[in-house]
Amino acid sequence: MSTQSFNDRFLRACRRQPVDRTPVWFMRQAGRSQPEYRQLRERYSLLEICQLPELCAEVTLLPVRQLGVDAAILFADIMLPLGPMGVHFRLQGGLGPVVEAPIRRSPDIERLRPLEPEEDLPFVLEAIRLLRGELKVPLIGFAGAPFTLASYLIEGGPSRTFTQTKAFMYQEPALWHRLLEKLAAAIVQFLKAQAQAGAQALQVFDSWVGCLGPADYRAYVLPHMRRLFSELQDVDIPIIHFGVGTGGLLELMQEAGGDVLGIDWRVRLDQVWQRLDYRTALQGNLDPATLLGPWELVERQALKILAQAGGRPGHIFNLGHGVFPQTSPEHLQRLVELVHERSPEFISGFSSQEEAAP
Ligand code: CP3
Repeated sequence: MSTQSFNDRFLRACRRQPVDRTPVWFMRQAGRSQPEYRQLRERYSLLEICQLPELCAEVTLLPVRQLGVDAAILFADIMLPLGPMGVHFRLQGGLGPVVEAPIRRSPDIERLRPLEPEEDLPFVLEAIRLLRGELKVPLIGFAGAPFTLASYLIEGGPSRTFTQTKAFMYQEPALWHRLLEKLAAAIVQFLKAQAQAGAQALQVFDSWVGCLGPADYRAYVLPHMRRLFSELQDVDIPIIHFGVGTGGLLELMQEAGGDVLGIDWRVRLDQVWQRLDYRTALQGNLDPATLLGPWELVERQALKILAQAGGRPGHIFNLGHGVFPQTSPEHLQRLVELVHERSPEFISGFSSQEEAAP
């Protein structure tokens, strides 16, 4: 039996409680940057891995063992709940999700079935139960946010400009809201089920919402996000609210909800925190591309982020978006060590400042 005790730094930071070291994990830590994962993918598709709880648990554990991160994220995909809702899609390597029959009209939306996670996605919940027996760090469950899922459903695949999504939103506002309502309801059920199965934190990925201006976010997305978070209020675990390119939306995203906001590298962490009155924990925000450079660059940029966080309770070190496949696992491992070794300086600096305050 392992004598190692449970590492709760990540959960403490989510609640803005003091920690000994800044917790660190990486979005897309389980996946293509790991040779072991690539080997498995020669025999199984991504969706097959998700549907086999033992294998899914194994892939989730890989980065925890190899990198020493302070949290595990369940191996799954934001597209998973759309299958049982009646959407036919595939995950195309190097591209992303491709939807066979994109949503165009009212019947396409009415046809979407409500999600019943215990019947529809039992393998996800089983993987969570298996993992809770193994892990000494918290397990993060997740789902895609309504806007980001709607963008795949309407575009039929990835997009740079989201023109079809926006055209639908502007031309068919009633249908848009109906679609987002249905997606939000499904996501709430899915996240509740993950929490009940044992997930200790949840992340809502609104990866592509940064394509919207603040007025459109307020009109077309905020009401759904507000409802989503309020329906999750009795789920007593921290929730991370994440998006890319959201510099102009952060106050609105804070208003929508979540205990932690995930921010990308286009904003300065110290300025964001001040803007948000330090009322929300922050996760981020190293540019994942930094890891493609020499170690000295990674070190310099990571220390800059720790300095901007200033040792204040409520920072979770992460990248601003997912790990690139070509990232060297050694860099990731060294980055975890760096954050653990160097953050105590900043943390003690912050506490002595607090003591000095009148
Ligand atoms: O380690 C982890 O982060 C957990 C696993 C995870 C995956 N997808 C596995 C996966 C998570 C958290 C996701 C979320 C996800 N999926 C998001 C939100 C996060 C983000 O990146 O903004 C989005 C937008 C998707 C949709 C999706 N699925 C994309 C864009 C891709 C990549 C396509 C490509 O090949 O570049 C996928 C496929 C996918 N999901 C992979 C992995 C590891 C790719 C590798 C493979 O095919 O094995």
